[in-house]
Amino acid sequence: MMELKITCIPGDGIGPEIVAEAKKVLNKVAEKYGHSMNFTDILMGGASIDACGVPLTEEAVAVAKAADAVLMGSIGGNTTTSPWYKLPPNLRPEAGLLKIRKELNLFANLRPAVLYDELAAACPLKEEISKAGFDMMIMRELTGGLYFGERRTVEENGVRKAIDTLTYDENEIRRIAIKGFDIAMKRRKKVTSVDKANVLDSSRLWRAVVEEVAKDYPEVTLEHMLVDNCAMQLVKDPAQFDVILTENMFGDILSDEASMVTGSIGMLASASLNDTKFGLYEPSGGSAPDIAGKGIANPIATILSAAMMLRYSFDLDREADAVEAAVKQVLAEGYRTIDIMPQKGETVTEEITQVGTARMGDLIAERI
Ligand code: IPM
Ligand code: MG
Repeated sequence: MMELKITCIPGDGIGPEIVAEAKKVLNKVAEKYGHSMNFTDILMGGASIDACGVPLTEEAVAVAKAADAVLMGSIGGNTTTSPWYKLPPNLRPEAGLLKIRKELNLFANLRPAVLYDELAAACPLKEEISKAGFDMMIMRELTGGLYFGERRTVEENGVRKAIDTLTYDENEIRRIAIKGFDIAMKRRKKVTSVDKANVLDSSRLWRAVVEEVAKDYPEVTLEHMLVDNCAMQLVKDPAQFDVILTENMFGDILSDEASMVTGSIGMLASASLNDTKFGLYEPSGGSAPDIAGKGIANPIATILSAAMMLRYSFDLDREADAVEAAVKQVLAEGYRTIDIMPQKGETVTEEITQVGTARMGDLIAERI
């Protein structure tokens, strides 16, 4: 019996809808396995801008810090039409997310990309590639690099110029590399470290430090791959990857690509961890403002993120297994949200039923 304090960040767009379903599933887990789960909501992103004028308040950070873990939906709006994007960059929704990652020291972002047998028809790759299946973990460094370096826009002799800086020190690289190798030891014991060492100094240091860390993990096979090649390999032969270890921006881009080859970004969970058991768990997808409020968003990524929370922050492996099994079962029974419906022309053998967000949450909760 565990007493757990969970801070929820429903956020913007589809965020509140998908977080509600993850809470539903967690409540079922609590009831079935005899835990107590206490949820407190905080505002972040556009919702916080509207209510408080800033994308994340200090009070909200304090509430998150006091919890055992944080479960987040998504933040942000349409970047061309939302008034939030008329604000100075440091007051926009994304600044809240970057701030909470930094404040909570969440340097390790785990983004699993798995091809579910049941969703093979949604995979956009050719069958000769997808039939090998894939199951990879993208480990993205989350609090350094280009997204946290100094930036400014200046005007020199009437010419506008923007400067972003990409910095990594060896300690930042070492701690994420250690996490990457630790995770690889629990998986298929292969690390692909992704960099741009043919051009960037930060990548050359990355490669050197990863090599040093690898010495402590003789059982793990390490390979280095340039990021442009990796982007290509993800669609050419995704089965080759186990753990992909990479810096912040490369991981941002590659994880979206990896999620797409799984068939739907609506399936991809993520965990952002510091060096304790604390973590922030969120779907890899965005706030999808175009479908917000329609009750059609896929809650599975958020539900699987809640499963990661049970596993990584609370060591409740049995409960996490139960959530993941319930998701698989619902898919096997043919239930799909619209984003993972088979496309025209695809042959599907089982009977398929299209359901909305809340029904999908109910179906998963019922199977726990
Ligand atoms: C992500 C998102 C964020 C990021 C944005 C919203 C700042 O794209 O979590 O991948 O780039 O980290
Ligand atoms: Mg991203």
